[in-house]
Amino acid sequence: MSILVTGGAGYIGSHTCIELLNAGYEIVVVDNFYNSKRESLKRIAELSGKEFTFYECDIRDKEGLDKIFKAEKIDAVIHFAGLKAVGESCAKPLEYYDNNIAGTVCLCEVMKENGCKKIVFSSSATVYGSNNVSPLKETMMTGGTTNPYGTTKYMIEIILSDLFKSDNEWSISILRYFNPIGAHKSGRIGEDPNGIPNNLMPYITQVAIGKRECLGVFGDDYDTHDGTGVRDYIHVVDLALGHVKALGRALNQPGLDIYNLGTGTGYSVLDVVKAFEKASGVTINYKIAPRRPGDIATCYSDPSKAQAELGWKAERGIEEMCADSWRWQSTNPNGYPD
Ligand code: NAD
Ligand code: UFG
Repeated sequence: MSILVTGGAGYIGSHTCIELLNAGYEIVVVDNFYNSKRESLKRIAELSGKEFTFYECDIRDKEGLDKIFKAEKIDAVIHFAGLKAVGESCAKPLEYYDNNIAGTVCLCEVMKENGCKKIVFSSSATVYGSNNVSPLKETMMTGGTTNPYGTTKYMIEIILSDLFKSDNEWSISILRYFNPIGAHKSGRIGEDPNGIPNNLMPYITQVAIGKRECLGVFGDDYDTHDGTGVRDYIHVVDLALGHVKALGRALNQPGLDIYNLGTGTGYSVLDVVKAFEKASGVTINYKIAPRRPGDIATCYSDPSKAQAELGWKAERGIEEMCADSWRWQSTNPNGYPD
């Protein structure tokens, strides 16, 4: 069974490749290294003890993708490739619409032309917009996204559902991730952001390692238990295992399925800071800063559908997430080497 993993050199993709190899799948990875390094692929092989095929290719390169489908026997695709920075998407909307939407359309066209109709797609809790009240359920209204990145995820969900309506032979699994953090237990792979991190956990770990002076906590006047924003942090290995389960279902039955992948528990920014300090033994210098535009007070999942239908449940708690993030950062202070 051979699975094409687009964006497999990236943060979530690399962890998923390991779990796919551990589960006995053969994988073919495609990446253009826009936001990743070749070294992550070496470490996937090192940690899994298995070899796999890699193609440096952009998913918008139709000819290139077609050659890959002709050369390999691909049974299904897990599609991570895309751009993901909310702020950057506001500055460069056309790049985001082109990469994420045109890239996905190109990939689906090549899949269809080569008779491969099974795809697991990386969506995001951002598609719920700001009008729903947590816990968020898959049946809630989507849309009302507040930035081009979120809108690409929302639009791709619509494109995939129209594709399924046009041809019920497709198996499409849309996974809405909440906030992935943590790293592989070994500390050999993890999140390696370029420049100043946008997200909370990489910012905290960079303060802990001494690369940044102080964490800005974006707002302490939200309607939450301590006034800071509440999110559903999920260990990236739990997320990766969710993909293995979703893939198993997609391989066995056609359909369009949407699943939240979260823990169902919300933690505030200050809860995460405290948990990190406890797990690492390092004190985090922070100060309260103004709210970040576009942020909402609270966002956490109802993950019960994934448990009922996929038999998947997040197992790793916040301290383990923090300890694993810290192991990765402290043993790779500058991320992956070039
Ligand atoms: P990442 O940037 O680490 O990984 C994405 C990978 O895709 C990178 O290796 C990048 O080089 C590659 N890529 C980008 N555009 C490409 C293209 N046109 N052709 C080939 N390769 C390309 O990001 P991640 O955190 O691993 O996220 C993976 C997916 O999950 C993305 O689609 C992202 O939008 C989605 N997602 C991430 C989060 C999060 O918080 N990390 C939350 C929700 C959804
Ligand atoms: N935060 C800070 N300081 C920072 C960074 C973040 O206080 O330096 C706070 C935010 O205000 C928020 C929480 O930490 O309350 C989490 O922020 P992140 O940027 O880590 O994550 P978001 O929930 O804002 O965004 C994430 C992904 C998006 C995705 C969104 C919806 O980064 O891609 O979840 O699921 F769209």
